[in-house]
Amino acid sequence: MGLTKTYKDGTTPIVCIIGSGFSGMCAAIRLQTQLNLKTYTIFELEPELGGTWWSNTYPGCACDVKSINYQFSFEPNYEWSTTYAGQQEIWEYQRQVAKKYNLYEKIRFRTEVTHAEWHEELQQWVLDWINHNTGETGQTNADIVFSGMGPLRIPQIPKQFEAFEGPKWHTAQWNHDYDLTGKHVAVVGSGASSIQVVPAIVDKVKKLEFYQRSATYIIPRRNVSNSAFWKFLFKHIPFVHFLYYKLTYWSNESIIRIFSTKWQHALTRRVAMLLAWSYRFYQIRDKQLRAKMTPNYILGCRRIVVSSDFYPALARKNVCVHTATIKDVKGRTLKLSDGSRQEVDALVLATGFHVKDSLAEGFVIGKDKCDLFKVWGQDPKTYYGITSAETPNMFFLLGPNTGLGHNSVLFMIETACEYAIMTISHMMDKNLSSIQATPKACKDFVDEVEEKMKGMVWSSNCKSWYQNEQGKVTALWWSTCTHYWWRLRKFRPQHFVGVQRSKVPAAIRA
Ligand SMILES: Cc1cc2nc3c(=O)[nH]c(=O)nc-3n(C[C@H](O)[C@H](O)[C@H](O)COP(=O)(O)OP(=O)(O)OC[C@H]3O[C@@H](n4cnc5c(N)ncnc54)[C@H](O)[C@@H]3O)c2cc1C
Ligand SMILES: NC(=O)c1ccc[n+]([C@@H]2O[C@H](COP(=O)([O-])OP(=O)(O)OC[C@H]3O[C@@H](n4cnc5c(N)ncnc54)[C@H](OP(=O)(O)O)[C@@H]3O)[C@@H](O)[C@H]2O)c1
Repeated sequence: MGLTKTYKDGTTPIVCIIGSGFSGMCAAIRLQTQLNLKTYTIFELEPELGGTWWSNTYPGCACDVKSINYQFSFEPNYEWSTTYAGQQEIWEYQRQVAKKYNLYEKIRFRTEVTHAEWHEELQQWVLDWINHNTGETGQTNADIVFSGMGPLRIPQIPKQFEAFEGPKWHTAQWNHDYDLTGKHVAVVGSGASSIQVVPAIVDKVKKLEFYQRSATYIIPRRNVSNSAFWKFLFKHIPFVHFLYYKLTYWSNESIIRIFSTKWQHALTRRVAMLLAWSYRFYQIRDKQLRAKMTPNYILGCRRIVVSSDFYPALARKNVCVHTATIKDVKGRTLKLSDGSRQEVDALVLATGFHVKDSLAEGFVIGKDKCDLFKVWGQDPKTYYGITSAETPNMFFLLGPNTGLGHNSVLFMIETACEYAIMTISHMMDKNLSSIQATPKACKDFVDEVEEKMKGMVWSSNCKSWYQNEQGKVTALWWSTCTHYWWRLRKFRPQHFVGVQRSKVPAAIRA
């Protein structure tokens, strides 16, 4: 490991990282490996690290991009058991990586950051936290904050299901104490979570009622075991692994064209839609069921899901597919708009996440005491989803407009971390106590995204968690991962303004 990057006086900034999912882990590792910086703390609300892969333990949970791409580029795992690894294996990978970089000793578990406020006079963030084990509360000052709180974290539990009087739970909070064997079970929702759960439990339950509001585009998933031979090759001839990684990455990148509504890409999009249609035709023989499973919107507008066992699961005798609206829930009975009613033993809610609520009111108070929740509203104004004009020295990971519909978000997290590290390096080189993106740089980014999104399917008239309430796409990046990387490959000082360190009296900070 090289020399520690420091300010001219030999000091290093104090860094706080919120969250220990892939984002928080990546920030910590990059601080260590690129700046040799050890003065950081990770706050984690849960009792374990992993984020998504710690909390989503539902049967069938797995990644939907190939594992070779769903891992840190700097920590290749040659041992993935299958093409698409399951939750337990991904979580184990995260734990192994965390142990290798000694992250566990840096994490304050069960400690939730409840408030983050920028203090101009200190040129620091002050984080309020609470330890949920001990009830202890406190404040920590930080020169730099990484926010890796995860957009898909807070389960969305529609109010109407609160009235259900039997066992019920959200997919992200799976109830492992309840044995589904021989039970009559309802599964609500038809997104990626549900499409993984249904085939995984269908053999266990006596009867499964599946409630779908809108159909999802599904493409085949070829999930094969990685043989000992391939694992050996990957491990001992890294070039083979590298080649497979690049092939997978570029084949994902090439898909981006199907999301474009431009006439040049119409043929590609139509071919993709035809493939999805053929797959439905091939897997579902029952005409009525096929009609129910046919989406009424343009391909890609919502997340395309990979699955080879979902349609066959729906065709099973013990499964009933409902497309009527759930009108009412009383006791253990669900009443539908078509007049039918089903009394079930347990209710599984695969109803998605509160994406827009992940930044609560009053949570981040930035420059000039502005509440980020109020300033942004439904419309985040960031610089490449990484930072903003209101939040000096704060870096968002998997922030607004950095999600993807076609490739692994780990690439985006890594790219954002690299840019944050370049920014911190610049701060130290120029002896700055704070740095923030200019309002113009943020506006240019947001305006460009808005303009580009007009030519993408995500802006069409179907509703998804990619959009805000006005239908504006605030969750996704509009182009390839490579394009994002290209834009951020070097630090652009002209897009930032800073405050010289000497202007902050040391006595104030002490
Ligand atoms: C079931 C599921 C499957 C997915 N599969 C894929 C896939 O195949 N490919 C893909 O690219 N993406 C996938 N995603 C998206 C996935 O969320 C990201 O890939 C990635 O794991 C996000 O990592 P993260 O660290 O940004 O967020 P998270 O993993 O959500 O981690 C956030 C962490 O921050 C902590 N935290 C939040 N707020 C606070 C606070 N105030 N104080 C302290 N700690 C806090 C949380 O407890 C959590 O540990 C999937 C998402 C889900 C839900
Ligand atoms: N690796 C993977 O394969 C994987 C697995 C799980 C999740 N993920 C990620 O997580 C994201 C979220 O996936 P998700 O499946 O958890 O959520 P989601 O895609 O948002 O799907 C939620 C589902 O619940 C339905 N729903 C919501 N409220 C309802 C109500 N009141 N009554 C009836 N139905 C209701 C929605 O219907 P409408 O569509 O009509 O709104 C939708 O079908 C994905 O897009 C993906 O990025 C990935």
